[in-house]
Amino acid sequence: MDANWLEGLEAAARHTLPEPVHRYIRQGAGASLTAAEAAASWDRIRFAPHVLRDVTEVDLGATLLGTEVSAPIGVAPTTFQRAAHPDGELAMARAVAESGALMVVSSNAGTTFADIGGTGVTWWLQAYLPTDRALAEPLLRRAVDAGARAVVLTVDTPVVGTKRDDGPTVWETTDPGWLRVNFDRGYAERPGAEKALDIGPGDIRWLASTTGLPVVVKGVLRPDDARRCVQAGASAVWVSNHGGRQLDRAVATSEVLESVVAAVGGDAEVYVDGGLRSGTDVLAAMALGADAAFLGRLPLWCLAAGEDLVVAMFDTLATQLREATRLAGLSRPSQAPGVLAPRLPFGL
Ligand SMILES: Cc1cc2nc3c(=O)[nH]c(=O)nc-3n(C[C@H](O)[C@H](O)[C@H](O)COP(=O)(O)O)c2cc1C
Repeated sequence: MDANWLEGLEAAARHTLPEPVHRYIRQGAGASLTAAEAAASWDRIRFAPHVLRDVTEVDLGATLLGTEVSAPIGVAPTTFQRAAHPDGELAMARAVAESGALMVVSSNAGTTFADIGGTGVTWWLQAYLPTDRALAEPLLRRAVDAGARAVVLTVDTPVVGTKRDDGPTVWETTDPGWLRVNFDRGYAERPGAEKALDIGPGDIRWLASTTGLPVVVKGVLRPDDARRCVQAGASAVWVSNHGGRQLDRAVATSEVLESVVAAVGGDAEVYVDGGLRSGTDVLAAMALGADAAFLGRLPLWCLAAGEDLVVAMFDTLATQLREATRLAGLSRPSQAPGVLAPRLPFGL
C-alpha cells in the first residue's frame, strides 16, 4: 500500500459511495470555511525535536478515563455509518476492537448498542439531549447495559448547522432504518423530543448521576467554557467544532487547544478533533496538550472501502505516530508538549 494512502481515501470513495452519501460525509456548514481550513491548521504546528536521547523503546499506549488503549487515537461519533458500509457501526466496532482502540458511538446509530458491545470493543456513547430530558433515559440505560464506559455530551448542536446541498440529500435517499435504532419506537413524535436549546452545566451533573458514567463534553472551543465543564464535574473536555458542520467560521481546534488545556489545568482530560489526518497530526495535537485525538471522516472513508481498511488506518497512524515520536526524541507521545516550537504566524 502506498505510504500516503490515507490522503487518497476521500477521492477514492467517490467511486464507491452514492453522491448524496459522499457529500453528507465531506460537507461543512454554510460556506464550509471552518471545514476547509481544519486540516491545514495542523500543518502550522512545528516541533523542536530533542536529540541525543534513547528512543529504542517507544510506547504509544494511553489510558483514557481509566481504559487502556493501543494509541491515543479514537473514532469520533458519526451518524449514518450504515450508508458507508452495509454493517455500519458493527463493522466499525469490529475493526476498532481488532485495533485495540476506542470508538464513540453516535446516539443516531443504526446498529443496536447490544450488537456493538457484543464485539468486545471499548466504546463510549455520544448523546444529544432532548428538551424533555427524561425521554433520553431509556437510550442511556441501553448504552450502560451494553457496556458503554463513558457518555459524551455534544453541546455544539442546539440546532443543526445548515448545509448547502446541490442535490438530493442522504436523508431523502437512504433507508430510515439505518438510523436511531436505539430510541424507543415513536420517540421523534413525542412532545419534548426535539433537541434541547437550553443545555447547561446542570446537564453534565444529571448525565453523570443518571448513567453512573464519566461525562465528556464535546464541542468546547473556549477556555472559560472548559472551566465551566470541569466545575460541573466533567471528566473530560473535547475541543471540537464538529468537523466544521455547525457554526461556519468557528475557529480551528488547533488554534484554541492550548488555551483550553491551560484552563482545565489537569483537572480533566482534554481531547481534540477536526482535520487530523496523520500520525504526525496526532503528535501535533499532543504537543498542544491533548490527551487524545479523535477522527471523524477518515475512518468513514476507510469504512466505505471495507472494514479491513479501518484496521489498516489504525496500523498506519500508529506507524506514523511511532516514527514521529522517535524523530522528536521522545519515548511517549504524551511527552510532546516538551517539543512544541513557537507557533508560525497564520498563513505560513
Ligand atoms: C458524517 C458525519 C457525521 C457526524 N455525526 C456526528 C454525530 O452524530 N454526533 C456528534 O457528536 N458528532 C458528529 N460528527 C462530528 C464528529 O464527531 C467530529 O467532531 C468531526 O467529524 C471531526 O472532524 P474530522 O471529520 O475532520 O475528523 C459527525 C461528523 C461527520 C463528518
